[in-house]
Amino acid sequence: MNQITLTLPDDFHLHVRDGDVLPQVLSHTASQFRRALIMPNLRPPVTTVASALAYQERIKDALKVATQQGALTATNNFQALMSLYLTDQTPSSEILLAKDKGVLAVKLYPAGATTNSDSGVTDIRLCDDSLDTMAQVGMPLLVHGEVTHSAIDIFDREAKFIEEVLHPLRLRHPKLKVVFEHITTKDAMEYVRDAEVSELGPIAATITAHHLMYNRNALFTGGIRPHYYCLPILKREAHRLALLDAATSDSSRFFLGTDSAPHAKDLKEHTCGCAGCYTASHALELYATAFDSVGKLRQLEAFASFRGADFYQIPRNHGQITLQRQQQQVPNHYAFGNDLLVPLNAGEVLNWSIVR
Ligand code: DOR
Ligand code: ZN
Repeated sequence: MNQITLTLPDDFHLHVRDGDVLPQVLSHTASQFRRALIMPNLRPPVTTVASALAYQERIKDALKVATQQGALTATNNFQALMSLYLTDQTPSSEILLAKDKGVLAVKLYPAGATTNSDSGVTDIRLCDDSLDTMAQVGMPLLVHGEVTHSAIDIFDREAKFIEEVLHPLRLRHPKLKVVFEHITTKDAMEYVRDAEVSELGPIAATITAHHLMYNRNALFTGGIRPHYYCLPILKREAHRLALLDAATSDSSRFFLGTDSAPHAKDLKEHTCGCAGCYTASHALELYATAFDSVGKLRQLEAFASFRGADFYQIPRNHGQITLQRQQQQVPNHYAFGNDLLVPLNAGEVLNWSIVR
């Protein structure tokens, strides 16, 4: 197959930040995806419906700016779907308001797990009332699935989270709908694939392009490579293969979420570099490369365009996008406000391109 046409896809896990960087990063995503679920880990975090709706308006304004600047065409018609940042104090009333105002989901960041998670949840049992409300009204909980105690090896934090937090949580809230975000291990893949959903609530997982493409060696090839550093961290090859197997399978429980996470170049290439891989500029091409590597390109449309929408019970998109086997070089950097943004694969040649 040298060409593939997909129904317009959605990115169900995206970081776009705020302020003057918005037009640039949004123009990348809006050129590839019809919708994206925007993560709420701003500083300060998006903990209220009012702040989520205000953020959505800023995103709309930034899309207009990107269109005026010629980075987007008016026909792109991109829609930002919003999420709320769960804290120890999130009241049930905010969940009800979120449901009423069309906020799509609520995100659990265990405190200390990742970028801007310091206001996150210190003990998930403190959220039991809100979680009950979420289960009742069908508001999905998105989980950053890593335990945070430093005694646990960083490569084991996701697997540990399943037994210590996720499974007990689903037992306590049997109707709760859960998305296990950016899974990185065979353990998480098998938990989601095999989860019992007649007694417990529905569960699905997003998978990033970088976790389908790379294992942990990428962090250390010829030296330390900060642009491959993300959380949860890249794992062993056996885990990558398990994720690729799941993403390209017929299971409806795995769908696309890039976790594209822009950070300024200086803060990535730093003595204590930030976690996050920027893939929004070429995400679909990376997914196509990964699916193609196992001869499963035909499965890409279900993964990228159908299963996420079906899980969230929102309509599938109309319109199409075509990818072809044609080389392109990833730029060394993009503008990012007054800084630079280095994409994953900077300077490398990819074998797939979007037909514009
Ligand atoms: O690598 C990551 N970057 N993982 C996350 O969970 C957060 C994200 C970010 O916001 O930078
Ligand atoms: Zn994320």
